[in-house]
Amino acid sequence: MTTHCTYVIFGATGNLSLSKLLPAFYHLEEVGRLDEGVKIVAIGRRDWQREDWVKASREAIFPLARGGIKDDLFEKFSQRLDYFKADIDDLESFERLASYFESNQFSKNMAFYLSISPKDFAQVVENLGKTKLLNEQNGWKRVIFEKPFGYDVDSAKSLQIQLNKQLDESQMYRIDHYLGKGMVQNLLVFRFANLLMEPLWNRNYIDHIQITHAEAKPIGQRAGYYDGSGALRDMIQSHLLQLLALIAMEPPASIEAEALRDEKVKLLKSIRPIAKSSVNAQAYRAQYAAGEVEGKPAVSYLDEPGVSADSVTETYAALKLYIENWRWAGVPFYVQTGKNMPKNQTLISICFKHPPKQFFRDSQVKKMDPNWLVFGIQPEETIRIEMTAKKPGLEINTQQISLDAFMHEPGSLRSDAYEDLLLDVIKGDRSLFLRYDEVKAAWKVVDPVLQAWSSERGYIDTYASGSWGPKDSVKLFDQAGQTWRYSLEPEHE
Ligand code: BG6
Repeated sequence: MTTHCTYVIFGATGNLSLSKLLPAFYHLEEVGRLDEGVKIVAIGRRDWQREDWVKASREAIFPLARGGIKDDLFEKFSQRLDYFKADIDDLESFERLASYFESNQFSKNMAFYLSISPKDFAQVVENLGKTKLLNEQNGWKRVIFEKPFGYDVDSAKSLQIQLNKQLDESQMYRIDHYLGKGMVQNLLVFRFANLLMEPLWNRNYIDHIQITHAEAKPIGQRAGYYDGSGALRDMIQSHLLQLLALIAMEPPASIEAEALRDEKVKLLKSIRPIAKSSVNAQAYRAQYAAGEVEGKPAVSYLDEPGVSADSVTETYAALKLYIENWRWAGVPFYVQTGKNMPKNQTLISICFKHPPKQFFRDSQVKKMDPNWLVFGIQPEETIRIEMTAKKPGLEINTQQISLDAFMHEPGSLRSDAYEDLLLDVIKGDRSLFLRYDEVKAAWKVVDPVLQAWSSERGYIDTYASGSWGPKDSVKLFDQAGQTWRYSLEPEHE
């Protein structure tokens, strides 16, 4: 059980709220994790009554409820829901909101979820502050910020300055939903609960590390946001650098939020800044052209509704990064992401160095694959270790074998990242949320590339929709013959 609280969702009728937040709350209700005193108040511009909001919520949850929506459960859940019409730019709306909370039976512990355009973050927080809704005298007040937090280092800084006028860092919950994913949390457990790998977890044994996030979907209706953002900001600055930090950081002193975040920041700060002259050698971008994804025709990025005809916004981005510390000096980290690829797949693949082959010099063994450790983050949640063993038979011949651990039974129900995170806000556990210095350090990693790309607006490479991205991105690899790994099983199997 958790404590009572009023969850206030700004932008409640938007896509994120309907597709993620409401189903997550509903599933928390199902597993009995919401205290009786948890109320969910939607803030929207529409001239709606509570009944309209309940109806819209049901429609949103219906297709997403695990095992189908249950009428009695939804009935119970809907008792928590309320709707308040407000204009987020208008102080008077906030005054009305404050007196509405005052005159009704709402918990004074309040979580304000800003599922709105980031350009409105500062305004909403200012209005909340002015109307004393952030006053912590009678209960805690926490504000949850969806990404992106800023647009680059400078804009993140100025946003932080504005927010700091009303909020303390301890009240800010910058969400990165990747940290709520089961397998992402498993990275910590796998690394710090096993002795087996730790002695190998360094530049002496690891050749390189790859992080791939592929999506078999286009940008959809998000051109307004995406065309000004691009894949580097949208996925790498946030989610994929978090994965990198968790894979590469030193063991934190404890699982406590600040200890964990201290180590992530230290790691992000150890990434060698990409010099202007190295951008082309360390970064690659491309845009999807027309093609076919999962058997269906797909239009090119430039033909998506709302995308400007001369846009050079990347829908694919790749980086090669080096971490300048004792553990990782000289080990390349390759990170890539793309839309409209053949399938949804997020993998962290760790490639070990080759052992000396002297022992096999007089045998038939000509080529041996390196050992790999692969974390399937999604859709399959797996840990796979690949090794070389003798092929059954007379002479010495080798084959790749693997140990595969699947974290879920096929068809079993899985919780969504948002469920954990929504609950953590109520618990006041900030370990899975980003601290400001962490966000700033991540912006610093990508800023030089963003600047170079924004000044080169003449050309961008393309890849066919439904392909694994632009061919030339393999030029990032330090060693000839190395390439991206896209699937849990190696290509040749
Ligand atoms: C979001 C990005 O933060 O993460 C989207 O804005 C992306 O563009 C999404 O599709 C990926 O999240 P997930 O959980 O589907 O892998």
